[in-house]
Amino acid sequence: MSNWNKSDWRKKPRIQMPDYTDAASLAAVEAQLSTYPLLVFAGEARRLKAHLAAASRGEAFLLQGGDCAESFDQFDSDGIRDTFKVMLQMAMVLTYGAKVPVIKVGRMAGQFAKPRSADTETIDGVELPSYRGDIINELAFTPEARIPNPKKMLRAYTQAAATLNLLRAFSTGGFADMNRVHSWTLGFSDQYEVEKYQQIADRIQDTMDFMNAAGITSETTHEFSTVEFYTSHESLLLEYEEALTRVDSTTGKWLAGSAHMIWIGDRTRQPDGAHVEFARGVQNPIGLKCGPTTTADDLKVLMEKLNPENEAGRLTLINRFGAGNVGEHMPRLIKAVKEEGANVLWTCDPMHGNTIKSSSGYKTRPFESVLREVRDFFAIHDAEGTIPGGVHFEMTGQDVTECTGGVRAVSDEDLSDRYHTACDPRLNASQSLELAFLVAEELSGRRSAQHVKAG
Ligand code: PEP
Ligand code: CO
Repeated sequence: MSNWNKSDWRKKPRIQMPDYTDAASLAAVEAQLSTYPLLVFAGEARRLKAHLAAASRGEAFLLQGGDCAESFDQFDSDGIRDTFKVMLQMAMVLTYGAKVPVIKVGRMAGQFAKPRSADTETIDGVELPSYRGDIINELAFTPEARIPNPKKMLRAYTQAAATLNLLRAFSTGGFADMNRVHSWTLGFSDQYEVEKYQQIADRIQDTMDFMNAAGITSETTHEFSTVEFYTSHESLLLEYEEALTRVDSTTGKWLAGSAHMIWIGDRTRQPDGAHVEFARGVQNPIGLKCGPTTTADDLKVLMEKLNPENEAGRLTLINRFGAGNVGEHMPRLIKAVKEEGANVLWTCDPMHGNTIKSSSGYKTRPFESVLREVRDFFAIHDAEGTIPGGVHFEMTGQDVTECTGGVRAVSDEDLSDRYHTACDPRLNASQSLELAFLVAEELSGRRSAQHVKAG
């Protein structure tokens, strides 16, 4: 993209980004970040793109998940390990259901900046600027804490680098051994004695036993002991993104070096806005959130801007309509994609359209609504003859009480027990794994239906 420059977004309308008051400090931070090493290599981003292209053809399936917002306070290795571990467990269950490789992409190592519905927040008659994520300001409800501070970008970079370092170590250092991942899955099923999960878990165990007996083990087979794990976040704070964007010497193309994949949020997808302008020029795989207000015309313009060469794997549409609204919105967007003959990967974010306020006052998401949105997503793709290629969850490996429901039945009253999120409510480890089993059922149901059709 020779006529594009990484700072072009500055000429476009700036929304959902802070107005920094200390220009000198901002300039110093940007200059410093621009000299720091990139967090990812271009070759990795291209490899992920090729995997996503496979998912768009139904030859792979995307699992994207992690915190709504990473936080400086809750940064520790156990948190990273547990989310990584649950994602591997989920991936194993999904692989079993889909019978295709599962691409694992964390909302991790850079998911710090948050778009907000309102610019200010009022508590007991006091109005302050909204919290916008730890990379920008602080959650504490004081005037000082809410002042955007550019130096936080340096801390976010450091935390992202350390997180990615640990993820890379876990991915190849023996932690991800398939036999270990599987024994954790069994632990889940035994503990809650959920018969249908037990059946899937038993069949996975049989398969593992068979392969081990045949001499296919983690000692002999690299794929059994290592995983590919990618990172992603919303590309919202463009000063940070720009400073980490460089030309890749192999291809001469720009790379957003802050993560393998970046996405554009539902609030910042204006075709002529700053965020689309930035994303269109980098070679990374790009996600685009599609919500109830995404029009077919906007989607067509966005597909043309973000993927002018119609490259498979470049553009992932992350649908987030809310349970009960999928039937109204997905068919019209699928029609727009078909009319353009566009290559996209269809994925479902069943979180962001299902946020409600509980009777106890907490922002929550009912597990049943999350599940219903996923099921409708699959059903509509079935009806339209298109491919449901992935899921996108806000989740954590920790035993939090932020979403209600699930086999362990978190109730409205339980929410206050362990409500730790810095932003939106996340599925806990048990709810995440349960959802993976239910999605695996959908996927294997589809497969058998296809077999019947083919036969
Ligand atoms: C998010 O993914 O955290 C988010 C803010 O989503 P959306 O842009 O879809 O509201
Ligand atoms: Co969120």
